[in-house]
Amino acid sequence: MITVAGATFLLTTAQTSYAFAVDPAGYLRHLHWGGRIDRVGDFEAPARWDLSTNDMLADITPQEYPVHGRFRYAEQCLALRFADGMRELRVEVTGHRVDDDELVVSLADAQRAIAIDLHYLVHEQWDLIERWAVVRNDGAEPVVLESVFSAQFRVPYEDLTFRNVQGMWAAEQHAFTQPVSYGKIVIEARRGISTHHHNPYVVLGRHATETTGEVWFGVLRHSGNFKGIVEQSQYGGTSFQLGVNDYDFELRLPPGGQFATPAVVAGYSGAGLGAMSHRLHAFGRSLMAPGIRDVLYNSWEATGFDVTADNQITLARRAKDMGVELFVVDDGWFGRRGQDSDGLGDWWVNRDKFPDGLAPMIEAVRDLGLRFGIWVEPEMVNPNADLYRDHPNWIHREPDREPDLARQQFVLDLSRPDVQDFVVGTLDQLLSEYDIDYVKWDANRPMSQVGADRDVWVRHVDALYDVVRRIKAKHPGVLIEACASGGGRVDLGALTVFDDFWPSDNTDARDRLDIQRGYSYVYPAKAMRAWVTDSPNFLTQRAVPLRFRFHVAMMGTLGIGADLTKLSDDELGQAAKLVAKYCEIRATVQDGDFHRLDDPSANDYRLLEYSAPDQAVVFAFLPASLLGRRGTQVRLRGLDPDATYRFYAEWRHQERSGRYLMAHGFPLWLQGDYASDVIVFDRVTA
Ligand code: DGJ
Repeated sequence: MITVAGATFLLTTAQTSYAFAVDPAGYLRHLHWGGRIDRVGDFEAPARWDLSTNDMLADITPQEYPVHGRFRYAEQCLALRFADGMRELRVEVTGHRVDDDELVVSLADAQRAIAIDLHYLVHEQWDLIERWAVVRNDGAEPVVLESVFSAQFRVPYEDLTFRNVQGMWAAEQHAFTQPVSYGKIVIEARRGISTHHHNPYVVLGRHATETTGEVWFGVLRHSGNFKGIVEQSQYGGTSFQLGVNDYDFELRLPPGGQFATPAVVAGYSGAGLGAMSHRLHAFGRSLMAPGIRDVLYNSWEATGFDVTADNQITLARRAKDMGVELFVVDDGWFGRRGQDSDGLGDWWVNRDKFPDGLAPMIEAVRDLGLRFGIWVEPEMVNPNADLYRDHPNWIHREPDREPDLARQQFVLDLSRPDVQDFVVGTLDQLLSEYDIDYVKWDANRPMSQVGADRDVWVRHVDALYDVVRRIKAKHPGVLIEACASGGGRVDLGALTVFDDFWPSDNTDARDRLDIQRGYSYVYPAKAMRAWVTDSPNFLTQRAVPLRFRFHVAMMGTLGIGADLTKLSDDELGQAAKLVAKYCEIRATVQDGDFHRLDDPSANDYRLLEYSAPDQAVVFAFLPASLLGRRGTQVRLRGLDPDATYRFYAEWRHQERSGRYLMAHGFPLWLQGDYASDVIVFDRVTA
């Protein structure tokens, strides 16, 4: 709900409120972000004065969208350059409008003809708000945006805890926390993708655990360069801002031109990190195509670039026997692709590998009753490809330099309309010619050498979204998975147009436990592809039992990536049972609430739960038994306290009330290394 009283604005969701007002000095002053307050009359923004000539109002006032100028030395959201080289901005609020769940507050620098619209969208049902800004040049000369963030947020406390993930290729999404103190914490991406290294969000906690304490969070809906800055102020409180990175960035606004920043989805939880994840997961799922996700097979780890009709059909037959529903042919089927140096950009079928085209293979897969998916990497080109020979100027490069090669490939300049049309045309043709249900959209290198056009970082991402939307408009039933050398493009922007993520090329089940946990803070299990692959794992050389590998992969949307020709009949039988078990619980896994449960044991149990109205599922892992025979006690969450649940544990069927299972729990004891279990709690209907 949006309430406006005079110059005070109050946004209310089911459990939270966000308030700000125009103060006597003309600043749009932030007033409240936290628990729900309904009475707008409770808020006021009394006059304040400079504390000293070194501590001025511009800095001490917590502002919704601080701009460069007027003694503002703390972080600001907007800095620009006018045609005459001047840079000072002096904005004041000029009006507002409310349209259903959206509030727009307008600011303007009348003298310099710059207008800023601050957008606030209230997602009442998810307890979230969404903020973005639109900067418009109403003047007669162009202006250059040097720095333009989506929003600034304020928390009225110091000494908070900052949370994000860190990582690298094949080691993405490792959650970390660090204390916030005086000065700044900065996280960013500079590679044109949201990267394997950090993720575009800020989470600030105050005494936060999974179920208690306060959490303030903002997640950027953008897949490119981003920057998050947390600043603890000498004047009390902590601010953070998120947006497009101003590193190597400039964006020219012609007269009449405007730039809309990506949005930040933000929220407050007074009940710890779990509630934050539930809200973000529900929001994330609402962006995705509806429906339960298939059990998928992907050929990459089995056949690499050496895909042929025969080996894929052999894999598909075995996959079908296991219960797989969707068969995806990965890299290698096109152009002169035999290794990573060739073929990207030539999206015609490789006739050496598929002499009769893809149709016979797709038909064979379909005859097995499987859906069919295919891998593409449309933003890239190899030097050894007809596309590059025909269009050497389509890549990012500096004209007098050797273009940068990474994984033997260049990045196409997707901001060019001809490149966009090429990508849309290619995918349209592929999807029209063949019966394809699913596309894995890869991007295996970062951008570089963007040259003089420093807005390309943003325009590439806008073009990517646009191209994917155009393809989807032509082929509405097709689901598209975002992959960027594993988890290089896991973000809420991508989730807005893609349907699935590949979180990491690391498919080692032990490593995945940490990767998937980090991932789970913000992104829903329904968007987390997880494969069961060979043991020992190709990357880590770690050997892990099949059951443990399955259980880890069953925590997301299950996929199989193992070389099925190497599995024994016994293993295939086991695998088929585990796939069947996944199908029984996948509605709860994919659409339920996710809980990172406590482990009171001195042993290293990892306890995770999904809860839905009629079912809860607990995943328990003991990667290494450190203290011999010590068990743990599992206390569930998210159950109906008054309902009865039936489950199998300690070698017998049991029934307990939801209240008992949440307050007391049940004992669990796993033995040995790489031990795991999945325990299903079915609500007993009266
Ligand atoms: C990187 C992806 O993450 C892998 O899953 C696979 O698709 C390869 N690219 C193919 O080149």
